[in-house]
Amino acid sequence: MYNVAVVGATGAVGQKMIEVLTEYEFPINELLLYASARSAGKTVQVNGQDIVIRELSDLIYTDAIDIALFSAGGSISEQYAPRLSEQGVIVIDNSSAFRMQEGIPLVVPEVNRVELSPDKSLIANPNCSTIQSVVALAPLSDVYGLTRVAYTSYQAVSGSGQKGIDDLERGAQGEAPQNYPYPIYNNVLPHIDVFLENGYTKEEQKMIDETRKILNAPDLGVTATCVRVPVRNSHAVSITVTLERGATLEEVRAVLADAPGVVLMDNPTELLYPTPLDTNGKDEVYVGRVRRDDSQPNTFHLWCVADNVRKGAAANAVQIAQCMIGQTTAK
Ligand code: A2P
Repeated sequence: MYNVAVVGATGAVGQKMIEVLTEYEFPINELLLYASARSAGKTVQVNGQDIVIRELSDLIYTDAIDIALFSAGGSISEQYAPRLSEQGVIVIDNSSAFRMQEGIPLVVPEVNRVELSPDKSLIANPNCSTIQSVVALAPLSDVYGLTRVAYTSYQAVSGSGQKGIDDLERGAQGEAPQNYPYPIYNNVLPHIDVFLENGYTKEEQKMIDETRKILNAPDLGVTATCVRVPVRNSHAVSITVTLERGATLEEVRAVLADAPGVVLMDNPTELLYPTPLDTNGKDEVYVGRVRRDDSQPNTFHLWCVADNVRKGAAANAVQIAQCMIGQTTAK
């Protein structure tokens, strides 16, 4: 039994982490919940028990914690995660602060749990759109090798936390946005996170860099366009993938159907393909619209949908924790 901390426990992802820990029956001795001074003293009901939210401060270093799940933003992770992990606490960090640091495992259990080891106690949880994409790409990479990946994402407002959801609801009431630069209601925005000097957004660059790291393919050609859409929850990613070795459509379908964490939902004659409403509350990655790109050799299209707050964040983090304690993941 473990003492488990959730840092950012009142946030969209933090609350989902608590829910998933309970659902997966994670072996918890004590659950310690941390947030800012704004939330300290409030109580949260977990398994019928009231747990008081603690204010995050240096006192966390003296609390008896075995595993800490962080989702309170990059600067909080930078401030607290390294010292906790040096103290021997297993820290799983949902921010982007450590993802690209050498020596820090960036893990999606279905894909690269081999990167986990007892001597690496700080582990990064990847970007939401990247997690669902690599779950679909890794089995193809293993069997055929990959030469190029092109992503276009359709990302739900829950990826921006409560403030994204609030902006969608504001728009539906005819009110102006407060989080996004333009209305998200009845609109799509080709802009997630800040713009970089190369013209990509930071979200796009994360998908590019993290895909290469997780698939252990530093030279893989990857490009991305990330788009915010007026959907409450679950991201969709349209993936165009070029394989190193030739494959038939049937072979690609068979590999995906067998892949861990993937549900193949693909039957155009019955209008069967995944949509965000199908994947809300699920931890699998749903793949449909699998077809050959006739304009390029060895190239296929995939439509990949998953719950961004669960598999894209909270559930993936808890699954990493399960791996670290030697439990088989629940899914
Ligand atoms: P709080 O609710 O007290 O502000 P989201 O990404 O959904 O906005 O959630 C962010 C999470 O990070 C919340 O739990 C929030 O707590 C927490 N948080 C934000 N700033 C701090 C801080 N300075 N110290 C501790 N927790 C913080």
